[in-house]
Amino acid sequence: MLEQLNEMESTGLAELAAVADADDLEKWRIAYLGTKGRLKAAMPLMKDVPKEDKPAVGKRLNEVKTALETAFKEKKDALGAAVEAAAGHVIDVTEPGIDYGLGRRHVISRTIDEIIEVFARMGFTVAYGPEVEDEWHNFNALNIPADHPARDPIDNFYMQQEHLMLRSQTSTVQIRTMEKTKPPLKIIAIGRVYRPDTHDATHYSMFHQVEGLYIDHDVTMVDLKTSLFQFARAYFGEGAEVRIRPSFFPFTEPSAEVDIKMKVKGQWQWTEMGGCGMVDPNVFDAVGYDREEWTGFAFGLGIERIAMRKYGISDIRWLFENDARFLRQF
Ligand code: DAH
Repeated sequence: MLEQLNEMESTGLAELAAVADADDLEKWRIAYLGTKGRLKAAMPLMKDVPKEDKPAVGKRLNEVKTALETAFKEKKDALGAAVEAAAGHVIDVTEPGIDYGLGRRHVISRTIDEIIEVFARMGFTVAYGPEVEDEWHNFNALNIPADHPARDPIDNFYMQQEHLMLRSQTSTVQIRTMEKTKPPLKIIAIGRVYRPDTHDATHYSMFHQVEGLYIDHDVTMVDLKTSLFQFARAYFGEGAEVRIRPSFFPFTEPSAEVDIKMKVKGQWQWTEMGGCGMVDPNVFDAVGYDREEWTGFAFGLGIERIAMRKYGISDIRWLFENDARFLRQF
């Protein structure tokens, strides 16, 4: 029986190797693997094999079966490829592929990286805070009274849970950082802020801010203006200027608006970029800093404004519509 099996395997494989087309392959399949083929015919012979030889012969039978079936499948695939090639289904490996285009970082992400780099050179490290905030960090600790219009539900995304909201300003990170760090400190905080504004060319319900905070002994407005000026020069280039105009923010005293002069399409132009001021002593009280010992400045600038000025983008909505034709220009 073993000899028979060996013979079946070697002739089977040899004959299969000689098969050259689909017709011959089918004939071979019927002869060896078909219901009346040689393999099936060998099965009943098992019962005549002496009991002690059964395991070895059975194992051999299985091996031969597997060998023939595997060889058949390989031959079929090989013939199939040849048939397709003959019919013209050829893969031309020299044909150029489909160009999906190389992606790039979003212009806002790149602007953020550049801002971080400029301030890092002045010794500012980056701090982060959550986008879902509580009223303590978004308002109370920032000296924004309970009846202040900035808290109006019309101007904020409040959550169902009490006292939670999407932060409306990165000033929250000032508080979070001071709560867990002892002075002196020098940080910028960058991230998304949310306000339910109607979308138009200059308003969007989500945008980004960069917040600065420097706390030390004897910090003055000169330090503030110098830092902003250094940023303006580094980011917008030679000739850029900074101007601060008196204003009011609850968390700074005195407070000012920040304007930066830069070249927009060849023309020098002043643009309001955000607010700044000297940290209000009430804020120090809220975070447990000694108001007699520490002084500091803070500022907050709009990142979209900065990027839109730099690249001459006239509609903020384009930044978030993610039309690749627009984004790939930057
Ligand atoms: N948080 C203010 C806003 O969103 C901007 C701002 C003003 C930030 C003055 C400051 C600051 O740190 O000192 O309108």
